[in-house]
Amino acid sequence: MSISGTGTDRTKNAKLLAWVDEIATLCKPDQVVWCDGSEEEYDRLCGELVDAGELVDAGIFTKLNPEKRPNSYLARSHPSDVARVEKRTFICSRNEEDAGPTNNWMDPDEMKAILRKQFDGCMRGRTMYVIPFSMGPLGSPIAHIGIEISDSPYVVVNMKIMTRMGQAVLDVLGADGEFVPTLHSVGAPLEPGQEDVPWPCEPEIENKYISHFPETREIWSYGSGYGGNALLGKKCLALRIASCMARDEGWLAEHMLILGLESPAGEKTYVAAAFPSACGKTNLAMVTPPEGFEGWKAYTVGDDIAWIKPGSDGTLRAINPEFGFFGVAPGTAYDSNPMAMETMKAGNCIYTNVAITDDGDVWWEGMDGPKPTHAIDWKGNDWTPDSDAPAAHPNSRFTAPAGQCPTIDPAWEDPAGVPISAFLFGGRLSKTFPLVYESFDWNHGVFMAATMGSEATAAAIGQEAIRRDPFAMLPFMGYHMGDYWAHWVNMGKNDAVKTKPRFFRVNWFRKDENGKFIWPGFGQNMRVLKWIVDRINGRTGAVESPFGHMPRYEDITWAGLDFSEEQYHGIMDIAKEGALAEAEAIKGYFATFGDHLPAELEAQRQDFEDRANRAPDIWKIAS
Ligand code: GTP
Ligand code: SPV
Ligand code: MN
Repeated sequence: MSISGTGTDRTKNAKLLAWVDEIATLCKPDQVVWCDGSEEEYDRLCGELVDAGELVDAGIFTKLNPEKRPNSYLARSHPSDVARVEKRTFICSRNEEDAGPTNNWMDPDEMKAILRKQFDGCMRGRTMYVIPFSMGPLGSPIAHIGIEISDSPYVVVNMKIMTRMGQAVLDVLGADGEFVPTLHSVGAPLEPGQEDVPWPCEPEIENKYISHFPETREIWSYGSGYGGNALLGKKCLALRIASCMARDEGWLAEHMLILGLESPAGEKTYVAAAFPSACGKTNLAMVTPPEGFEGWKAYTVGDDIAWIKPGSDGTLRAINPEFGFFGVAPGTAYDSNPMAMETMKAGNCIYTNVAITDDGDVWWEGMDGPKPTHAIDWKGNDWTPDSDAPAAHPNSRFTAPAGQCPTIDPAWEDPAGVPISAFLFGGRLSKTFPLVYESFDWNHGVFMAATMGSEATAAAIGQEAIRRDPFAMLPFMGYHMGDYWAHWVNMGKNDAVKTKPRFFRVNWFRKDENGKFIWPGFGQNMRVLKWIVDRINGRTGAVESPFGHMPRYEDITWAGLDFSEEQYHGIMDIAKEGALAEAEAIKGYFATFGDHLPAELEAQRQDFEDRANRAPDIWKIAS
């Protein structure tokens, strides 16, 4: 074995050097490469991925037509490795109870023993990359540095887009800086002479492990090369590990987009919104004000993760710790999300598991215009509009630099963050739940967020049809969900937070009796956002319903959209039976949290049940 690149020329951080040494000894790669984050490095690695593709006779990377997609590549994963694997995601706290009822738990020593065996020699025949990255603006006091060790060049180039990555991070880290060590392997060593495959990964799902050690703040991920399983800065560090840091230090690490709304008068309001995976965060983060909203502007701060801390000015301030977007491709179009399309048009993107057209462009279901008459699908097979299978995988994604988004907020890299005036929560719910309602107070808002539910999407493997997804954090919690709710309740009592954000539930997904979405969604969601901004600034009324404060038909701005009062009733009226069933379902759900359930939330549940009991059979929004 020849180990090149000891790293002593790159960092004086003794802890880091020792850890890299230890992992190299364990994983036994052919060589060690310290990533510098340069364009040359990016181009070289992408070039190698393209060449390797020719070698193994099926593209790992395919360079797209530079006239249509400058400096952009298509990657195809193995058909078994296409999304996060929740049942192989573990929180390995010392005490089982600290992981709570919503996480898979294993004893940390037991897990380490299993993983040491898995990782032993797992990088044979491969290169081990040391990837220094910063979540949050480089050098800012709220940023956290991570080091990812990975044997996947696909991970390196994605991390370059998704995080601030490279030598500058090591420079900030210095000799004594703290970092979160994160270890990743695709779990596919190569014997001498063995030919590589296009997308190496561990084929057996039972041998995949996405393991978190909250007490020692470590991440070990084995066997998958895809998304949140492999880009360890994102869900693993910025949510699961960061949620533990946030609990200990009095802040919030959330699965939320951050959006700035500017009125024609120039007044700016920032909101943060938690929707489960594949439920519209990227979409809302880049919302384009529709006809009738002339003079309004929407600015994007982040599309997936928010770190939120009490600011010295008495507001709650949010930063986006990421540097890029890892967005769902299918359904993204000029029609639905023009700003995402423009972000991609600027080039410098990686597309994973989408289709490629005959002229070297990308394509996926839901893109504008006619379907291509022929394409190569995400599995590398010929595809025509007559094909039964989709051309792009439902969880196919684009990796794009956030700075290329035309609506990126001028303050998106401000280490002080942006002041949050409202939290929005929303899942995919085809029945019962209204388009929008506001909480009566902070604790009612926590109740609304904690009881959020959503119907299945393609972002995770093995998800049941409908599930509770509290705060959209179910797959991303690093500790006991009940304790996390208590942390939110306590945040509401924090006197340092003088301007408390308001809480709203939204639901773009209610369906009519024919199974069609009633609400047009996308840019039209701006109408709901405007009502929220008006509420925050005390400019509009609302009526009280069993769920919360709701806008009357005349409280919403309708200019430019033909949406009748009758249709409005279709998404706002509440069936008593549905509300009571919900109160009952929450009772059973809450019981699973035992004495970790904050008393405030059970009190909220009872109030909700009382309101539902007092309601008529069909509660109709007033007009
Ligand atoms: P993750 O990256 O997995 O966290 O997902 P996300 O929450 O960012 O979801 P995204 O914005 O990518 O949306 C996923 C899907 O929801 C796409 O297919 C969109 O077309 C669809 N979608 C987004 N907004 C709306 C909406 O307002 N109405 C409807 N009906 N669909 C929407
Ligand atoms: C999600 O599933 O919420 C994502 C995609 O944002 S992944 O990075 O794979 O977690
Ligand atoms: Mn997400």
